[in-house]
Amino acid sequence: MDWGMKNRLSKIIRPETGRTVMLAVDHGYFLGPTSGLEEPGKTVAPLLKYADTLMLTRGVLRACVDPMAGVPIVLRVSGGTSVLGNLADEGTTVSMRDAIRLNVAGVALSVFVGSELERKSLLALADLINDAQEYGVPVLAVTAVGREMVRDARYLGLACRISAELGANVVKTYYCEDFEKVVKNCPVPIVIAGGKKIPEKEALELSYNAIQRGAVGVDMGRNIFQSEHPVAMIRAVREIVHANMAPDKAYDMFNTLSRENKPAFA
Ligand code: R5P
Repeated sequence: MDWGMKNRLSKIIRPETGRTVMLAVDHGYFLGPTSGLEEPGKTVAPLLKYADTLMLTRGVLRACVDPMAGVPIVLRVSGGTSVLGNLADEGTTVSMRDAIRLNVAGVALSVFVGSELERKSLLALADLINDAQEYGVPVLAVTAVGREMVRDARYLGLACRISAELGANVVKTYYCEDFEKVVKNCPVPIVIAGGKKIPEKEALELSYNAIQRGAVGVDMGRNIFQSEHPVAMIRAVREIVHANMAPDKAYDMFNTLSRENKPAFA
């Protein structure tokens, strides 16, 4: 692996712990103004210092994030569809040249294994990897987005393994029963998405279980920015990911921090 690739990967997965807390705020690329992300700049500003990496689109990055903030960026470079249409029909939206101009630590693209457009999305991943490889830019493959996917170990294992076989450096998927099998069968690091907002205690348990079963971290969005106490939430998630804090202790920490801070949307 060349120096640039290693250097960028170390900005995504922290070398101190081998883990990562990625803050995902890219939802608007197909969902529009998602609850909690109506003004993305305001949402992310207090969270940045607790995120190892920020995952978002080019437009929101340029318009809403201070270039001096110092947070490494994983840029979503796929899109072109909306929640009203066929999500699997997305394409690559950002050139590698522009991604590098934005000084990204990595790029991300979704694959739609099992959809009628799986070939298109998998070849788009391969093309992106070929481009990114030229410049030492890691690629994060995002699996299992969409409505009709059954998120079990068999399906997620298939989608993760195919993404890794094509050359993705990191794969993002969902936690599931027998998650350790998904991890074991995927030769590259896995991070989990949080999914729809659930109670904080459950989201912390989900994070803990994923880490204990082999995920290197989370790429979490709604369960952080839709919490009434997003800063408390990301800090609690961080303790689980980087320090193996037990979920009940992390929840206590969340409650303590929540009492100290006003609700974000008050
Ligand atoms: C989905 O395609 C997006 O990449 C989101 O970033 C991803 O689903 C993670 O966000 P959440 O934790 O809200 O599921």
